[in-house]
Amino acid sequence: MKNILLKRGRLLLTLFLVTQFTDTFAQKQTVIRPGEIWPDTDGNHIQAHGGGITQIGDTYYWYGEARAQSQDPDRRYVGCYSSKDLTNWKFRGNVLEMANPDTLAANWVLERPKVFYNKKTKKYVMYVHIDVNYKLAQVGIAVSNKPTGPFEYVRRFHPLGFESRDIGQFIDEDGSAYLIFEDRPSGGFRIAKLSDDYMDVEKNICLLKERIEGGAIIYYEGLYYCVGSGLTGWKPNPNKYATATSLEGPWTEFKDIAPPEVNTYGAQSSMLIKVVGSKKTTVLLLADIWKPETQWDSRYVLMPLEIGNGKLWLPTPQPYTINMKTGETTFVEQ
Ligand code: DGJ
Repeated sequence: MKNILLKRGRLLLTLFLVTQFTDTFAQKQTVIRPGEIWPDTDGNHIQAHGGGITQIGDTYYWYGEARAQSQDPDRRYVGCYSSKDLTNWKFRGNVLEMANPDTLAANWVLERPKVFYNKKTKKYVMYVHIDVNYKLAQVGIAVSNKPTGPFEYVRRFHPLGFESRDIGQFIDEDGSAYLIFEDRPSGGFRIAKLSDDYMDVEKNICLLKERIEGGAIIYYEGLYYCVGSGLTGWKPNPNKYATATSLEGPWTEFKDIAPPEVNTYGAQSSMLIKVVGSKKTTVLLLADIWKPETQWDSRYVLMPLEIGNGKLWLPTPQPYTINMKTGETTFVEQ
């Protein structure tokens, strides 16, 4: 009898310890820490570089280049994570996994995936930058019936016949979807409207004559704000912004989003996201701190911006919490 009680006691203790350990491991994060390792809900650093965030209902899907060390070097991957609070991200798998699409050289790249949801066709349409030695300059399209894939590659092309390197995405208040793409020979970057089914780039809206990549746009209190970085490869530079009352322009001149000497705190713009809360609409910048030699370890800056009346400013990246109900963010002690 004594033995059975002892055994049962030990079993209960083990169960208690296991539960405690699992709870600690899977503990919810409350703070966003820009620039640090960002563990997903399994504890692995998020692999969604050069990414985009798509909101479907109350769920956010973060897509980006997956560059984990364990991946097959002959394939290219797009990782997908979901979250309701922009803080805790659950890995939903590599939703696009591609071998060389056709005749491209072995060193081809797939960068900056962005996913649009088309309400009419109920399809998720992914745009990516496809390149070889950064000379091919094309976009690729992949499609899925679900936000979590699998996405199927469709084709690659020059949008409207132009060269296209870094891409960004923008959905306007009326639901119209736009691709932002850097068109180097034309000396700037373009905003172009997608076709009704999002399967093509249909209409050039504007060419912003500024040597900018990592282009991102947001509409806030009657103005379009556009952010981008300079063309310095993987090295950081002072990112800049311009505003306009219409996507067609005219756009203001580009101004710094942070003190130029800090080179955007080592980050490069990728996307602007709006969180509309009961008390505040917060605009966040999603940016990448690239580590070209150890890309899997590249970090993210997801930071609330100071924005309004034609001004936009990135505060020093620091830990903060975000209240998804009120839209408010609060910096926390480090
Ligand atoms: C800068 C771009 O923004 C990145 O996406 C990547 O293409 C690097 N250049 C490659 O040097």
